[in-house]
Amino acid sequence: MNNRKTGRVCWSSPANIALVKYWGKRGVQLPMNPSVSFALSKSKIKISVEYSLESGQTPGIDSFTLNGNTHDEFLQRIEKYLLALSDYFPFLQMARLKIDSISSFPHSAGIASSAAAFSALALCICNIRAELNDRPATGEDFFREASFVARLGSGSACRSVYGGLSVWGKTGLVAGSSDEYAVRLGEDISSPGITELNDSILIVDSSTKKVSSSGGHALMKEHPYKDARIEQAGSNLETIIRSIREGDIETFGQVVENEALSLHALMMSSSPGYLLLHPNTIKVIEKILDFRKDTGVPAYFTLDAGPNIHLVYRKTDHARVIPFIRDELLAYCENRRWLDDSVGSGPENLNEEI
Ligand code: DP6
Repeated sequence: MNNRKTGRVCWSSPANIALVKYWGKRGVQLPMNPSVSFALSKSKIKISVEYSLESGQTPGIDSFTLNGNTHDEFLQRIEKYLLALSDYFPFLQMARLKIDSISSFPHSAGIASSAAAFSALALCICNIRAELNDRPATGEDFFREASFVARLGSGSACRSVYGGLSVWGKTGLVAGSSDEYAVRLGEDISSPGITELNDSILIVDSSTKKVSSSGGHALMKEHPYKDARIEQAGSNLETIIRSIREGDIETFGQVVENEALSLHALMMSSSPGYLLLHPNTIKVIEKILDFRKDTGVPAYFTLDAGPNIHLVYRKTDHARVIPFIRDELLAYCENRRWLDDSVGSGPENLNEEI
């Protein structure tokens, strides 16, 4: 390529919440066990990438902003990521990029933002290649490649390129599933299957975690319960997929809560062990268990690798759950912060908005 080429692409992509958790890696960003998650609707990051390609020029990032501010730590992670991608995308070896990102949720909210950020960035990189090759930035192959590329930035990001439910990790339970990219689950699920879910995110503590997810994954390599965890995740995946198809919300909820507690139990029993739960996390969990017992409303908690609670329930129960959150849970949240989110329809191409 001799001539200079310039352009700009823009994608918005969601965070996701895992129901069966990815915990532990092998090889290059491959999961130790298969996982399933759903994309969120409101918790999104929008990234625009302005590119200028010219053969012979030194590649790199001219500027990076997150919500209008520079962010050195994230910039370094992205630089490393783009370097690793340049074998797959030779155009990156002659690209100068300006990257601007805007998150719909406060960066300090303690919501895992890397899945949204790396999926949006992967979609932008794949979109640039599509543009250079005069191909449309859409279709099954496009999203599969974006999922593969997102995974190299952050494992859970590979599940964020699809709306609704997606599965990452090879399993006999889902046709076409792979360790290298995620696939959609349940496009065929209809009533009485579980499709319409809400996720009320209760921000118990937004401070930076003492141990990162990557640190936690690394501790799984020598974990004494590693084999048992792989077996448990497989069996939970099978149960939850069946419960989703059959609309069995009680069984679904049992798996969701078992996965959340198991994830944190694995952290506590790692060597060295660590604890990411906050005293108020436990209070909120107890309140949720009491609410379910007293009212019969099937609302279940789950957790990321952090202290904040995701309260997952059917959309049809929204009106019953919201007063409970307001009256009983917000007292345990940092500055009464929470986000009323739900299953979302996945990334959006915003090139036209530029
Ligand atoms: C507990 O995807 O953040 O949220 O691949 O190192 O970036 P890296 O880790 P990350 O781990 C997510 C862990 C989890 C469970 C899940 O999302 O499946």
